[in-house]
Amino acid sequence: MTKYFDGTMMDLEAKVAAKLSDYRFQHVLRVRDYARKLAMANGVDVEQAEVAALVHDYAKERSNSEFLTLIRVKNLDPDLANWGNYIWHGVVGAEIIHDELNIQDNDILNAVREHTTGAAEGMTKLSQVIFMADYLELGRNFSGVDAARRITDESLTAGIRYQIVHTVLHLVKKETAIYPKSITTYNYWINQK
Ligand SMILES: [Fe+2]
Ligand SMILES: [Fe+2]
Repeated sequence: MTKYFDGTMMDLEAKVAAKLSDYRFQHVLRVRDYARKLAMANGVDVEQAEVAALVHDYAKERSNSEFLTLIRVKNLDPDLANWGNYIWHGVVGAEIIHDELNIQDNDILNAVREHTTGAAEGMTKLSQVIFMADYLELGRNFSGVDAARRITDESLTAGIRYQIVHTVLHLVKKETAIYPKSITTYNYWINQK
């Protein structure tokens, strides 16, 4: 049994694996490993970080129509409908994780909600750890990943700043729309020391 899920960690792994392609499940396991390391270094409950990491992409492979239905049924921000899977699997995914896996810990649910965009003030250490573990897990090989890992080992705050700056830069270069919350996250973290 874990404190955050009615079952063993292996039960949770099996439930997550059942809803994801093997490719994505392997990513989830690597995020779990990286989150464990960052949790230990930053005084976050390791079991809580492991559960959050295991469920963070639980809803990633759901259909657009399932997300759009949930946005309506759950009375979520109607503007969400204008975005896509990239935003939905976190924000709407948290609802799915709550309902299907009976995960009730608010810090875990918020970490899932925030894992693609980050957040401005109020991001818990757990949420920061999941945000960075998703970005830095050992399967990632974008240019600068080694520097990003080193920076994050020294300071979680500096790591978050690195990630949000580079993500916004990347989206601008692609001339892709930027979800407003990503800009809010950027404005907040560029000033954090
Ligand atoms: Fe994700
Ligand atoms: Fe992920």
